[in-house]
Amino acid sequence: MNDGALIILGVTGDLAKRKLIPALYHLFKKNRIQNVAIIGASQDDVVPSVILERARQHIRDIDEQVWQKLCNRFYYQKLDFNKSDDYSALKKLLELVEKKYSLGGNRLVYLACAAHFFCDITNQLGQSGITQKHTSQNRGWHRIIYEKPFGRDVQSAHQINECIARWFDESQIYRVDHYLTKELVSNISLLRFTNCVFEPLWNNRYIDHIQIILSESVGIENRGAYYDKYGALRDVVQNHMLELLAMTTMEAPQRLTGDYIRNERVKVLESVRIVDGILGQYDTYQQEAHVAADSNTETFAALYLTIENNRWAGVPFYLKTGKYLDKYEVAIHIKFKQVDHLFTKGTPPESNWLTIRVAPDASFILSLNAKTPGRSDQLMIVPMEFCHSCLYSESTPDAYEVLLEEVLAGEQATSVRFDEIESAWKVIDTVYAKQLPLYSYKHATTGPEELTQFCTNHGMRWRS
Ligand code: BG6
Repeated sequence: MNDGALIILGVTGDLAKRKLIPALYHLFKKNRIQNVAIIGASQDDVVPSVILERARQHIRDIDEQVWQKLCNRFYYQKLDFNKSDDYSALKKLLELVEKKYSLGGNRLVYLACAAHFFCDITNQLGQSGITQKHTSQNRGWHRIIYEKPFGRDVQSAHQINECIARWFDESQIYRVDHYLTKELVSNISLLRFTNCVFEPLWNNRYIDHIQIILSESVGIENRGAYYDKYGALRDVVQNHMLELLAMTTMEAPQRLTGDYIRNERVKVLESVRIVDGILGQYDTYQQEAHVAADSNTETFAALYLTIENNRWAGVPFYLKTGKYLDKYEVAIHIKFKQVDHLFTKGTPPESNWLTIRVAPDASFILSLNAKTPGRSDQLMIVPMEFCHSCLYSESTPDAYEVLLEEVLAGEQATSVRFDEIESAWKVIDTVYAKQLPLYSYKHATTGPEELTQFCTNHGMRWRS
């Protein structure tokens, strides 16, 4: 594993506390990283012990020795994102830390802050010399991670891309989406392309339709200031859900790495056409802190789209997401076409479904028709399940652990290329341009009542 310095900008935020620092702890514990030092920076007046103590609450069964190692290698720099003097101070601290631990010059900067800071911060990093564009003369590598959402529409994403390209080569840039490093998501390609029982059927001849669901039982959890500017389409559809769609539908890449896989994902995203949809907002949303009293921001979206290529022509794709729904579930449900057989005319067989469950438990479930015991004329549905969580829950790393490891190793398949991100934004811009209706819904339901009409119109039922 590479030695190096990791700088987290926005270290006092939720992401660092809940995900990044715990992920670093686990990587130290598993010995996946050794000679790494961390410098947190933010605009807050705070001491490192406070940041660390907050993050500690998110780690179970802590090993004190490992935790102490992380604490000893954690530094803090107060930094105003727009002040060049602060970047000079950060650089000084960085050089001290690099010398102290003989880190060798590898530098990774993680922007765990809002997208509207991305361009200014990148300019400052470049001007201060904290990071440099890749050349063969560089000592060690410099990489930068941009957390999602990357922009808020295609235009802003494009502007950020142009801005950061002045300071970094694309090979140094990681626009991350933690869904791409979830265990079951990275398993989709292997499931599809290494099993002869799936790949030949993975097309419009045999697949009836596909549902992608990201349903959450929690609300916006004190993130009103951010969420009200973004909404469900920008928060999770543009990134997590469209990447799930791309992984499920792309053509086989030559290899499952870097640009091979990104080339295929981008082709699919460019072929997406939005047909219909409805939006929703939970009934107490406007009373949430930092949300406008007359907000029109959607906390729910159901979309019907198609993919205009040979493999998928005519196959409907349904995406559904929402906050404060009846349950937490992230899944891809693939419905195969019904077989038409003479001997089953009386009791027609059900369609087979393949479910790729990403959360809360990770599993693949294939539903098959089988004979009802004792009855030769009746069918029943039997599930064949591979429960990943039951077998490997202890050894499966969290998505952010994998994400950091991949970036440290220089693997770009799990981050999103500039053209891929812009294609995904184009899809979202088209949805907004349709001015879909926004309906209210109650907590712990399946969404707005009007969703029933949407299902009737398209002759579908959500798989639950
Ligand atoms: C984040 C969104 O990217 O993903 C959140 O900002 C959402 O609103 C979260 O809750 C879902 O991720 P996970 O890993 O908890 O399913």
